[in-house]
Amino acid sequence: MTTLYQEHLAVLINRYENAMTHFGLDAIVLASGGKSYYFQDDHTHPFHAYSGAQQWLPFTLGAETYVVLKMGEKPTLVWPVRDDFWHAPNPVPSGDWQQNWNIVTAKKTDKWFADLPNKTAWLGPQAMPFAVACDGLKAYVDFAKAVKTDFEIQAMRQASMRGAAGHLAAKEAFLAGMSELEIHLAFLKASQQSAFQEPYPGIVGLDEHAAVLHYEHKSIEQVANSRTLLIDAGANEHGYASDITRTFTRHDDDFNALINDLDVMEQKLCRSAISGVAFRDLHQNTLAGIAALLLEHKICALSVEEQLAKRIPQIFFPHGLGHLLGLQVHDVGGHQIDQAGTLSMPDEHAPFLRLTRTLEQNMVITIEPGLYFIPMLIDKMQAEVSNHGCDMARIKYFMPYGGIRIEDNVVVKTDQTENLTRIAFSTTL
Ligand code: GLY
Ligand code: MN
Ligand code: MN
Repeated sequence: MTTLYQEHLAVLINRYENAMTHFGLDAIVLASGGKSYYFQDDHTHPFHAYSGAQQWLPFTLGAETYVVLKMGEKPTLVWPVRDDFWHAPNPVPSGDWQQNWNIVTAKKTDKWFADLPNKTAWLGPQAMPFAVACDGLKAYVDFAKAVKTDFEIQAMRQASMRGAAGHLAAKEAFLAGMSELEIHLAFLKASQQSAFQEPYPGIVGLDEHAAVLHYEHKSIEQVANSRTLLIDAGANEHGYASDITRTFTRHDDDFNALINDLDVMEQKLCRSAISGVAFRDLHQNTLAGIAALLLEHKICALSVEEQLAKRIPQIFFPHGLGHLLGLQVHDVGGHQIDQAGTLSMPDEHAPFLRLTRTLEQNMVITIEPGLYFIPMLIDKMQAEVSNHGCDMARIKYFMPYGGIRIEDNVVVKTDQTENLTRIAFSTTL
């Protein structure tokens, strides 16, 4: 019986053999990358393997690891061995995966690449002198990465489960009056990871900090009766990420009503992310949806059409609706519309949109509308937009709450999306 992993490997071999044929190559080497050091220090930056290499193996890859592909042959994994009593031993992971691989162990000084064929291309952070230049190869393989195999989707289901467990613990910590740091630690503990293992640094913002899109600080201050928690944090399963945001509040007030309505809108957007839909159109629908919420919640008195014409929704929702998700949280190829690498950049009114492709079955994407009260943008609106129709007293009332983002990860299907995040929350509850 073939496993999900073996099926995944067969898809990758097919993709890369097609690339070799297309570019007239005899071999491709994918390098995980090397460690890099802090300036004038002997500590390294956290290491994330290059996604092109990581994609091939069912465990997290370390540095100096290479995948060697030759037409018609089993792939070869070149595994680093170290004469090193400072660090834990680094054995090749055991498991059934080995059946499909040639495994070569190599010391740093070993010339494992000496007998590679002449037309060998290289993908990875450090170029090697033996490799032939192959300009279009990266775009060719990046394009295909957007459509996930069942093995990859299963990994993201697991990553979603761990992420959801973390979010539930974070909510409890918020309700118990904990600081941002304590909430983050509760998230990490429940999602069973250290901060360095997170797919991206978790964003944990209380109150006004919820209005900072990529708020990085984690305050140790406990805020009595904190109003809002916005937490954007995920987990990963051998490199595949979940990217989840939830916003909680303490009281059943107008801000809570806004959260609930944004949540309804977000779930509707998730359901409409089916194959054949242009993601740009979903983003545009979201801007109209935000305008409707602003009107309904008496934040802006202008009609939806008037708000869109004056770009009022972008003041409150200044980022894109979502992005491709995979081994990289903002996965590669979001603006790439073909294998040749043709780019389709976002429209001028949505400059931060990371995904401009038409959705295809088994793409995994995020859907993450937000509604924030960001002082800088509100000041800008007041200065630049005449007759903006916004109720400044009402905005002042909402400002101490910061803002809202709700983010789910969905698998695109032909008729009904699989919402990995909602399923994970309902299973974990
Ligand atoms: N966590 C970053 C993002 O949502 O895109
Ligand atoms: Mn995201
Ligand atoms: Mn996120």
